[in-house]
Amino acid sequence: MLYRSLLALAYATIVSHDGRAITIDGHRRVLLSGSIHYPRSTPEMWPDLIKKGKEGGLDAIETYVFWNAHEPTRRQYDFSGKLDLIRFLKTIQDEGLYGVLRIGPYACAEWNYGGFPVWLHNMPGMVFRTTNKSFMDEMQNFTTMIVDMVKKEKLFASQGGPIILAQIENEYGNVMGPYGESGKAYIKWCANMAQSLDVGVPWIMCQQNDAPQPMLNTCNGFYCDNFVPNNPNTPKMWTENWTGWFKQWGGKNPHRTTEDVAFSVARFFQRGGTFNNYYMYHGGTNFDRTAGGPYITTSYDYDAPLDEYGNLNQPKYGHLKQLHDVLHSMERTLTYGNISTIDFGNSASATIYKTEEGSSCFFGNGNENSDAKISFQGESYVVPAWSVTILPDCKNEAYNTAKITTQTSMMVKKPNEAEDTPSTLKWSWRPENVDNFILKGKGDSTQTQLFDQKVVTNDQSDYLWYMTTVKFKKRDLFLGKSMSLRVNSTAHALHAFVNGKHIGNQHAENGKFNYVFEKDVKFKSGRNVIALLSITVGLANYGAFFESKPAGITGPIFITGRNGDETIVKDLSAHKWSYKTGLNGFENQFFRTESMSKWSVESVPFNRSMTWYKATFKAPLGNDPVVVDLMGLGKGTAWVNGNNIGRYWPAFISSENGCDAKCNYRGAYHAEKCLTNCGEPTQRWYHVPRSFLNGEGDNTLVLFEEMGGNPSLVSFQTTRVGSVCANVYENKIIELSCDRKPISAIKFASFGNPYGNCGSFEKGTCESSNNTVDILTQECVGKEKCSIDVSTKKFGAPDCSGAARKLAVEVIC
Ligand code: GAL
Repeated sequence: MLYRSLLALAYATIVSHDGRAITIDGHRRVLLSGSIHYPRSTPEMWPDLIKKGKEGGLDAIETYVFWNAHEPTRRQYDFSGKLDLIRFLKTIQDEGLYGVLRIGPYACAEWNYGGFPVWLHNMPGMVFRTTNKSFMDEMQNFTTMIVDMVKKEKLFASQGGPIILAQIENEYGNVMGPYGESGKAYIKWCANMAQSLDVGVPWIMCQQNDAPQPMLNTCNGFYCDNFVPNNPNTPKMWTENWTGWFKQWGGKNPHRTTEDVAFSVARFFQRGGTFNNYYMYHGGTNFDRTAGGPYITTSYDYDAPLDEYGNLNQPKYGHLKQLHDVLHSMERTLTYGNISTIDFGNSASATIYKTEEGSSCFFGNGNENSDAKISFQGESYVVPAWSVTILPDCKNEAYNTAKITTQTSMMVKKPNEAEDTPSTLKWSWRPENVDNFILKGKGDSTQTQLFDQKVVTNDQSDYLWYMTTVKFKKRDLFLGKSMSLRVNSTAHALHAFVNGKHIGNQHAENGKFNYVFEKDVKFKSGRNVIALLSITVGLANYGAFFESKPAGITGPIFITGRNGDETIVKDLSAHKWSYKTGLNGFENQFFRTESMSKWSVESVPFNRSMTWYKATFKAPLGNDPVVVDLMGLGKGTAWVNGNNIGRYWPAFISSENGCDAKCNYRGAYHAEKCLTNCGEPTQRWYHVPRSFLNGEGDNTLVLFEEMGGNPSLVSFQTTRVGSVCANVYENKIIELSCDRKPISAIKFASFGNPYGNCGSFEKGTCESSNNTVDILTQECVGKEKCSIDVSTKKFGAPDCSGAARKLAVEVIC
């Protein structure tokens, strides 16, 4: 026994820290890390994603652990498939990377309910994230279970495994005010509880400036260079450097420029930071009902260095990789050197890290408008506005955050080229049977109260029927008046039926999740059935007491009758309401491929609400990631071979305004800057991981269309690099790659002073007389990648009146 534990110790990695850095086996480290959340991709994708992280210069992969995914029902656990946490951690280990395990178990993360199970909310007397006994018991139970699982597999660094850091809670400091003294006590409890689990690696608490020792408080945000941890013994660490932003239905495509992400990282290291984690490095997909909200999209692309499908998002991926290489090359000076700074004024500064062996320098320019001319040790340097130059030897510029020498990749979607695939899919359909509800108002339980949707459904479904009957006597004062039904709603989307007739639907607009639905209705004498279908689109995941943000139809609900100036109001809120969770087709699993009967190929309807559609298709050839274009559909859910690929809502078009054609990377980024995709569906393409597909045989797509849509445009496509561009100054080496496909042609090339952007380059006023296209054709065409020395030696020396020459090139893949 003793021998065994000694052996384990021999393999153990000792992770500790001092005020300067995380130390691993006694060495201070410069650590670059990236967030990849395992359930947002598939186990088949993990090795490639993690490998790309490693090739991108990362030391570590970070993930949250999503409690509601693992414990969907109290004390019933799921670690299968995409939820195989241990397999994910072992994949990180196999790749030789470190792991950062953010157990939370509150995650936020645009994940349904922030990662909390809804059954937890429905326990008596429950309040989340405070000194509530039931909450603390459950949190401790889950956290302990995860730690034990990970320990059992020896995955903490202290056991010889990859995990160097663990996290408890998540950004509690941002919301703790309203919790008062209990909040403070809760954070102390979290710290003690975590510490008692004895994981042998440091615990972090992000955005927690009262983090009790030995918890390390860390920073999250677009910039963290000004962050100062609450304890001199805590290194300056950045747990979430947001590489882009998430998307909401009705929203546009966020874009954080490469230059700005690089600037934020370089600035952080200039100012003494030593650990930076990209949130997200790969955002991935919110499959099934995992998206948070309300209204977070299925895609969680995040404009991360790896796109939703796992492709390199260039130039972000490559420009950051170069930065990581430079920072790693300076690890010793950065973590052991003496630090001095020179302030040049106008937001320009130099920071010098000096050890006995040598020095490394950062020249920073935080001015958004003007370039800085800096003289340093007899040399002069120009640092472009809003950029940082890194000089590992304090003499030669190795990297500038604003000078991109990595290619830009333009992604394209290609039609499904599988054999025998007709250009349009052949559909069959069946209606969702709603008669019991809309005609009879018959549910599973009745109450004389309107309940929050979570309480009734336990979040087992997005759908909840609220049904009641109203009787009018023949001579009722109401009848004959102009009448309406008025519903105060916090349903994320709502359909209303009276006596079997669909009278309308509504969803929240402009982020207002409490709204009034009002429609004129003709009630009849005798019995009237009112059926309201309330739909959730991701439960709230952020804010103090977010667990009690209402969802569903909490009322009041009125019928009003107007006669001239006179209005009579009938309050239905305390009526007998009948409830039914879910829809028939979900219960009967129409999305399973085996469910074959009762589908009809006759008169396939368009624009019919509550309709199921089914089609078979062949998997697109090759290995490129597959997407399905759902343009033309309204709102609903899609399945491929029984796998839920997420909620869709292409009918939700973003507004025309607010896009920024001239996106300027200079100046502080915020989520509304540099948006694209105005006036278009927020999300039109949906990821279908290859592992969901049968390579050879037939595949089945099933859609449940809630609002009404036209499936005839739906098509399967693959996504890949279509063309690649570069635009670099002379004396640099540029690598062009079609990402494992041969380069097929050079579309544009000019050496001189070309201008414009990828896809629209133009020749400038000076140009080399050598045939640049020919040179590049020879070096690149037919190859998967080529490396070009951008020099006058190769391309000739056009006279550009003394200005630096550039090569602009666009190649077709
Ligand atoms: C942070 C949170 C993350 C994520 C991010 C926004 O506040 O910790 O989980 O939600 O914001 O994408």
